[in-house]
Amino acid sequence: MHSIVLVVFNLNTICQLCDSSVVYKLKNIECLAMPGYSANASCRLKALNWNKAVAQMDVDLVNPLHNISIQFQVFKRDYSNKFQPFLIDVILNVCDLLARRSFMPYGLIILKIAKKFSNFNHSCPFAGHLFARDAYLDESLFPNFFPLGLYKMNVTIMENYAKPPSTHVGGIVWYVQAMQPIQTKRKPK
Ligand SMILES: *[C@@H]1O[C@H](CO)[C@@H](O)[C@H](O)[C@H]1NC(C)=O
Ligand SMILES: *[C@@H]1O[C@H](CO)[C@@H](O)[C@H](O)[C@H]1NC(C)=O
Ligand SMILES: *[C@@H]1O[C@H](CO)[C@@H](O)[C@H](O)[C@H]1NC(C)=O
Ligand SMILES: *[C@@H]1O[C@H](CO)[C@@H](O)[C@H](O)[C@H]1NC(C)=O
Repeated sequence: MHSIVLVVFNLNTICQLCDSSVVYKLKNIECLAMPGYSANASCRLKALNWNKAVAQMDVDLVNPLHNISIQFQVFKRDYSNKFQPFLIDVILNVCDLLARRSFMPYGLIILKIAKKFSNFNHSCPFAGHLFARDAYLDESLFPNFFPLGLYKMNVTIMENYAKPPSTHVGGIVWYVQAMQPIQTKRKPK
């Protein structure tokens, strides 16, 4: 039993090495507002083709945030359909990243994604309406980082993390499929 699983896994790994063009397709997205801190959270996906979907995200902050931290956790779905922790579980101070007071590798990737797609592109504080448009996980930022499979990426947003009373102000969960691109038949000319 174990050896069969191992062979399947190895085949996947080998094929992934043959074809470096694994794509990360967004499958689902959930946004969570925390009463008293955030409101009107809305997250929607739009499929562009078989291999790509983009997200539209909106939220209103009740009060300005001055010292935002996020916990970024990644889980991979296993053979029994349970999500198991996968490599990444970090807490990053977003205000320090935006002010270039810290340079953590995952932080810089998150920052690149935020700057490309959202109005989350200036230094702290943040207030009012935050949004992202046509957001996706750019494969070129993590080439071949994720083996084929379904991932859950959980972003928990906090104000004044580790300094009581720290508060949980909201959350975003992305479900992402790492897959070989689906080739569509070309129309005959
Ligand atoms: C949420 O949306 C309603 C209706 O547009 C608006 O009146 C309210 O101020 C919004 N909440 C926040 C915290 O901005
Ligand atoms: C930040 O994002 C907003 C909305 O996309 C855009 O209008 C603005 O020009 C951006 N600012 C910077 C400094 O990139
Ligand atoms: C995301 O993480 C937060 C904090 O650990 C947890 O409360 C929440 O249940 C998680 N959400 C999902 C969908 O796993
Ligand atoms: C800001 O957040 C960091 C955690 O990222 C925490 O250590 C620090 O105490 C907070 N600063 C203030 C002024 O609350």
